Amino acid sequence: MEDIRIGIIGHGFMGHEHEKMLTKMEGIRLVGFSDRDPKQLEDVQEGLKRYSSNEELINDPEVQVVLIAANNNQHHDLVIQAARAGKDIICEKPVAMSLEELDDMVRVTQECGVKFTVHHQRRFDPDFRTAKEVLDEGTLGDVYTIKSSLYGFNGNMHDWHVYVAEGGGMLYDWGVHLLDQMFWMMPGAKIKSLYADIRNVINFEVDDYFKILMRFDNNITAEVELGTYYLTDKKHDKWFERHWFIGGNKGSAYVDGFEPEGKIVRTAGLLQNVSGHRTMTAAGPTRSFGPPPEGKILTEELPKVTTCHENYFENYIRAYHGEEEFLVKIPETRRVLALMDAVRESGRTGKSIEFE
Ligand SMILES: NC(=O)c1ccc[n+]([C@@H]2O[C@H](COP(=O)([O-])OP(=O)(O)OC[C@H]3O[C@@H](n4cnc5c(N)ncnc54)[C@H](O)[C@@H]3O)[C@@H](O)[C@H]2O)c1
Repeated sequence: MEDIRIGIIGHGFMGHEHEKMLTKMEGIRLVGFSDRDPKQLEDVQEGLKRYSSNEELINDPEVQVVLIAANNNQHHDLVIQAARAGKDIICEKPVAMSLEELDDMVRVTQECGVKFTVHHQRRFDPDFRTAKEVLDEGTLGDVYTIKSSLYGFNGNMHDWHVYVAEGGGMLYDWGVHLLDQMFWMMPGAKIKSLYADIRNVINFEVDDYFKILMRFDNNITAEVELGTYYLTDKKHDKWFERHWFIGGNKGSAYVDGFEPEGKIVRTAGLLQNVSGHRTMTAAGPTRSFGPPPEGKILTEELPKVTTCHENYFENYIRAYHGEEEFLVKIPETRRVLALMDAVRESGRTGKSIEFE
């Protein structure tokens, strides 16, 4: 099978990440890069082309697929330009800045008959896949809550991410991944209602904190929370925290970190009514929040999952050659954009929203 020949627009952070991965990937040949800032092309690897414009890249017959890794506000125009030149397209997330933009992109890519998908490689994150595996195994009983959270401890937001016009803000940047993962966690489940708090804690223009509560029709309430200004003075080099918590009536699971550690925790017998020993804590006497009876708390290892971001492109290659479907379908990305609109509306009005 012939290699898929990819040209990338944008040699910034993500362009470099793609360069590292795709130059080593069997089944793909990376042809070269364009960038509106020529300085960004100075360290393009030997042997790859440095185009003098996007047009030159898009019109190069050697390029079959254009991967768009430019700022969010550039995606719409670049997708349309590539489609009109007959190129297949992979666009970085968030695919578009609005539903209108996406619908326009879909119309043109369909008219031009080109393949169009989005880079949502975080569907292969080990922490997410581990949490999903726990849920899919069904051993937690009736699950009532799933919480996914990410906290940054140093207050950093950078570059164009602090400008609305460039598509900045954490909802676009990380929210799109966290919400996509939550949908993928429970295929087929629909959101009945949601409530969101979304804030500019320290940034003038863009959101840097959000908490989103979603009541699904499978009776699970999912919570997604992200904060960039969760300051602590951690001594080591860990300046973030990533957590999952899943609670059911037969056990709980916690999954911590991107290379996850955690446990499934159960009780040896139902604890809903044991004789409560009075425990003295710093906050005063308690029974419900005291220690469990001896031997009642049991732990199990989390399932082992094998997954990595290369899996995204492995699917891409097979799907490109017609052997399976593209993992990331445009209607799924549209659903996340629609959800983000509802999240903003709830954040603005302070009211819950009926969704789906
Ligand atoms: N999938 C992921 O995990 C992931 C991670 C980070 C970023 N991204 C996405 O990748 C895209 C780029 O983000 P980044 O962090 O690499 O930003 P960046 O600022 O580091 O890089 C963007 C590059 O695109 C160039 N550029 C901007 N507009 C252009 C245009 N019209 N034509 C050609 N070049 C242009 C800039 O000069 C810059 O070199 C964004 O859409 C972002 O959301 C995805």
